[in-house]
Amino acid sequence: MKLQDALKKVSSGISMHVPGHKNNTIGFLSDIKIDYDLTEVPGLDNLHEPEDVLKELNDTLGSPYNRYAQLVVNGSTTGMLASIHALNHQNNNFFYIDDAHKSLYNGLSLLDKTPLEFRLSHIKKGDVVVITSPTYYGDVLDVKDTITDVKQRGGYVIVDEAHGAHFSMTENFPSSLIDSDADVVIQSYHKMLPSLTGASVTFVKDKSIHDRMMHYINIIETSSPNYLVMASIESALHFYNSYNDEIFFEKRAELIEHLKQNNIVVETVDDPAKLVLSIEGFSPYDLEKSLRDVHIYSEMVSERGVLWCLPLWHDNDRYPFEQLLEALRNLTVKELDEITIDISELHGKRAVETITPYPPGVPLILAGEVIDINRLDEFVKKNVKIEGLRKNLEYYNIEV
Ligand SMILES: Cc1ncc(COP(=O)(O)O)c(C=O)c1O
Repeated sequence: MKLQDALKKVSSGISMHVPGHKNNTIGFLSDIKIDYDLTEVPGLDNLHEPEDVLKELNDTLGSPYNRYAQLVVNGSTTGMLASIHALNHQNNNFFYIDDAHKSLYNGLSLLDKTPLEFRLSHIKKGDVVVITSPTYYGDVLDVKDTITDVKQRGGYVIVDEAHGAHFSMTENFPSSLIDSDADVVIQSYHKMLPSLTGASVTFVKDKSIHDRMMHYINIIETSSPNYLVMASIESALHFYNSYNDEIFFEKRAELIEHLKQNNIVVETVDDPAKLVLSIEGFSPYDLEKSLRDVHIYSEMVSERGVLWCLPLWHDNDRYPFEQLLEALRNLTVKELDEITIDISELHGKRAVETITPYPPGVPLILAGEVIDINRLDEFVKKNVKIEGLRKNLEYYNIEV
């Protein structure tokens, strides 16, 4: 069973990546039994028209913020697609602030639209602004005033807070924009909180927008929602509401100190649960691979550095912290062999498929744009997964 063997191998490593349960060492997911993998039998409500236990959970999620909440089992991607469709009109435009996830581009491509770079003066009634905050790297945008300005102009705001479901958990984490005037806030519970992959929640201010979103969620989302994922949102909510951050900040400080002692340069960002690592004399790609060699799996790597999503350590967690420190002691960083794939024949051709290094999933060259291979060079050399590249090579019959 090759897939299970591969899963066994990676899950026995040390996780510095999503999902937030870190190989089930953080949070309370063991309380959820596989037996709970059920379907909409009487007593279990129906996610597409929640009226009973699922409505109660939605209400518990949304009521502290006066928002209509909806559990989503297909990730924030579903929330993005549904909100884009719900707020689309024949004559409105969509704008983005900061690098948007591919779900924005994909959602709009279904409507024959492309997102435009945000300029407040360009916003007219009915336009939609999509804000990605925090970014993948944990940078938080100062956008509360912008949201108010957009609303004053009659625009709508969607906040893609996929990476910020743990925000406002205590006063030592950044504030969530769930308290802002944004019309829609979408959070991937699975990324930073201990819940199962796919677990997300949409939070909407206005009932009519929520209802329109439900229409699209019900079109896009599976008709057989996974109860384990839904139960994991309830579990993560309990985790969120009862979290004491003392242990987290103690361990974080110890880890940062340990990394520095091992000559690793640590960039801290707005989100304390993210660290960006680098090391002098080597590229971040070398560092990421060398970390993997001592069984530490990172979230992402780019020229900026190796991104770690820290575990939300807590009392009685099962995270292998000592093993992590030991692995770092054994770390020897080596230079990677660069991959030499010649994609020069693609240069100047029109992309037939959007080209997206993944992660982070931010499109680099959109379908229809002219391909500049210099923008892809770094990713190709370092063997980063680039979605859409193969399709373009095939289309132009380029063999590599
Ligand atoms: C900024 C951002 N938004 C949305 C998404 C989609 O989230 P999900 O994986 O929950 O569908 C991602 C995924 O990486 C993301 O980085």
